[in-house]
Amino acid sequence: MPDLQPGINNGQPVIIVGAGHSGVAVAAGLRTRGWVGGILLLDGEKETPYERPPLSKELLKSGAPDESTVLRKEKFYQDKRIERLAGITAEAIDRQSRTVVLSDGSRRGYDRLVVATGSRARPLTVPGSGLPGVHALRTREDALDLKRALVAGTRVAIIGAGYIGLEVAAAAAARGCKVTVLELQDRVMSRVTSEPVSRFFEQLHEQNGIRFVFGAAVTAIEGQRRAERVVTADGTVHPADVVLAGIGVLPNQEVATEAGLECRDGILVDGEGRTSDSAIYATGDVTRFASPVDGTSQRLECIQNAQAQADRVAAHITGQQPAEPEIPWFWTVQHGVRLQTAGVRHPDDDVIVRGTPAVGKFAVIYLRDGRLAAVDTVAGLADFRPAKKLIAAGALIDPALAADPRIPLTDTIPNDPSLTDADLVSARI
Ligand code: APR
Repeated sequence: MPDLQPGINNGQPVIIVGAGHSGVAVAAGLRTRGWVGGILLLDGEKETPYERPPLSKELLKSGAPDESTVLRKEKFYQDKRIERLAGITAEAIDRQSRTVVLSDGSRRGYDRLVVATGSRARPLTVPGSGLPGVHALRTREDALDLKRALVAGTRVAIIGAGYIGLEVAAAAAARGCKVTVLELQDRVMSRVTSEPVSRFFEQLHEQNGIRFVFGAAVTAIEGQRRAERVVTADGTVHPADVVLAGIGVLPNQEVATEAGLECRDGILVDGEGRTSDSAIYATGDVTRFASPVDGTSQRLECIQNAQAQADRVAAHITGQQPAEPEIPWFWTVQHGVRLQTAGVRHPDDDVIVRGTPAVGKFAVIYLRDGRLAAVDTVAGLADFRPAKKLIAAGALIDPALAADPRIPLTDTIPNDPSLTDADLVSARI
């Protein structure tokens, strides 16, 4: 089989498996970059590909329309000659013949293949997890099911105090439900943020009537015909009419694993999005790769990464330069308060709080070996953009100066010969 040359169309289409943010961005990026060959987009879901962030936020609000925001209008796929097969998944990849076996039994040859299968909600596996009334939230259908269940007065038990659990807790409380959040760890959002931010959001939720149980290991969900209560390891029984499990996600890597691509909690890709097979790329939540900042192996669950990787893959396939990589960033909104994060914090980073959480607006910066590694901004974005630039530049930060929120982040840099004036100027813009 001849080696694939970037930018050369060997006659077969690019097949993209998955029509989430990343898959759709690959298809769009290929056309923007002038790919004239075929593009086949396999969409496991039936409706026009849609935005996921509103599913746990705006969509759940009382009175909010059930329609979701589409990523691209139907006309876009037609105009750009993107063949989208709705409700069709890739069942197997035959790497030898460069063919994908589809769920309708047909086979399609590919020139390049992009696996953008995303992630799925980690399933709850305790006894009773399958009872009616137990929900997960990943798709629009999941969100609409949950929305119908969040009737005022309903007792809602949420398992997991991550982004999903907390956003749903806020929506459910606003709809008049009685909400209890059961979290295994000793604080909320422990995977993604530090203690000061966790404590701030816990208080915010408590002020809105939400109750937390920490160190809660769920052992069973019980009920006659549907969920009626959640039981934890210490024997406590939490009555509940509706249960939502928001306990993280799993990468949808099976089709890649079965095809023999290297996977380790995610499909392994390089900086260009290439898997261990040079004709196959992967992008988005399903991938694992070395952080360009510090080489740490990571799987990023964010739209920014989904789009950035999509751009890199589209660039590589068409033999062009990708856009400058952006520092990963994430956001959540709970009770109208926005937490926006840039960079990826490590648990042993030094934590510096800028401002007073009690006033409802502050930032937290994370230093690794004295350099800015990540920032959390709460209810204000003043530090967000400068921090992104400084993280990208690997800026050293003076911790004493940084603790004073009146000093702009860009003025907290000690004399660092490794930092150019251009870095500083661009961070101050
Ligand atoms: N019981 C209780 N809590 C649990 C359990 C369990 N058995 N297992 C995990 N948890 C807790 C974790 O400690 C963590 O606080 O569930 C929380 C899951 O949080 P996240 O990892 O942030 O996952 P989730 O909230 O499900 O969000 C998944 O969806 O919003 C998108 O892409 C975004 O990464 C996010 C993803």
